[in-house]
Amino acid sequence: MRSRAIPTQLRVEAPAKVNLHLAVVARRADGFHDLETVMSTVNLFDTLNLGKRNDGQIEFWWQPGLARTGIRVLDSALMPMDDRNLVVRAALLLKNYAKASDGVSIALTKRIPTEAGLGGGSTNAAATLWGLNRLWDLNLETAEIVELAAQLGSDVPFFAMRTGLALCHGRGERIEALSARDAPAIVMAKPASGLSTAAVFRACHPDAGGMLSERVISGLRDGRWSALARSLRNDLQRPAAELNGDVTRLQKDFDRFGLPFHAMSGSGSTWFGLCDTLCQARRCAGVLRARGWPWVFAGQCRAVA
Ligand code: C5P
Repeated sequence: MRSRAIPTQLRVEAPAKVNLHLAVVARRADGFHDLETVMSTVNLFDTLNLGKRNDGQIEFWWQPGLARTGIRVLDSALMPMDDRNLVVRAALLLKNYAKASDGVSIALTKRIPTEAGLGGGSTNAAATLWGLNRLWDLNLETAEIVELAAQLGSDVPFFAMRTGLALCHGRGERIEALSARDAPAIVMAKPASGLSTAAVFRACHPDAGGMLSERVISGLRDGRWSALARSLRNDLQRPAAELNGDVTRLQKDFDRFGLPFHAMSGSGSTWFGLCDTLCQARRCAGVLRARGWPWVFAGQCRAVA
C-alpha cells in the first residue's frame, strides 16, 4: 500500500478574479442580491504559507507583497490580523466542522489590493480551506469545502470550486464551471481609493433585463465568451461611479485604448480591459502608470493555482 505524505508546511497560491459580467437581478429579503455573473481567475496571486502547530492554536499575520504592486492600495485597516479576517474565520470554521485538534500558523503575502472588486479576501479564505484540508489531513470532498465557503462570503465558493471560469447565480454561490479555449491577456488598474461592496450594492437598482440570453449563455458554455464580450455588462458600474469619481476617470483612460472589452470588476474600484496579446496589455499598463494610477497589472485570465 502506498502512503501519501502529509506535509507540515504548505504554500498555497490564491488567485484574484475579475467579473466579466455582473447583472444584479433582484434585491432579496435577506439583504443580499440575486446575481448572474461570469467570473474568471487572473494570474495575480496572494501567497499563504501554512505551518502545522501541535498546540491547536490558530496564528495569523500578513505582509505586503512586491513593492511594485504598492502598499498604497492595501488598506491595513481592512486587513485585521484577528478573527475579523476571512483567513482566520475560514480556519476556525474548518476546525470546528472537522473537529480538528491541530493548529496552524498562517503567513499571508498580499499582492491583491483591498476594496478592489478582485475577490482578495474571498480567495484567501478558499485557499485557507483547501490548504488546511491537506495540512490537517481531513480528506473533505469538494462539495463540503464549497458548502463551508458559502458560509464565509458570496464569492468564496467560486474560488473553492477552483474552476478558473464560471457562470454564477444566486448570491454568487451557485456555480456552473465554464470551459474556455482562450485565456485572454488582461490589463487592470485601481485608484488609491477603494469601494465598499455593501455600499455599492445599496446604491444599485436591480433589473432582470441585464441577464444574458440563452444564445450568449450557450456561447459561453462552448468557450466562445471573448467573442461575446459585447453582450457582457456590469450593473454595479453606475452606482460605483456615483460613489467614487476615480472610477469614471479610469474608464475614460481605458476608452482611449480601443480594446475589444473593458469594464469594472465586481463592486470596484478596479477597471480592467481584455487585450489581444500580453504585449498589448503591457503597453496599456505602461500608459496607465504614466497617467499616475497607483496600482496597475498586466497578465492573463484563467489562472488556476
Ligand atoms: O457575501 P459578502 O460578505 O462578500 O458580501 C458583502 C456585502 O455585499 C453583503 O453584506 C451585501 O451587502 C452585499 N452583497 C449583496 N448581494 C450579493 C453579494 C454581496 O448585496 N449577491
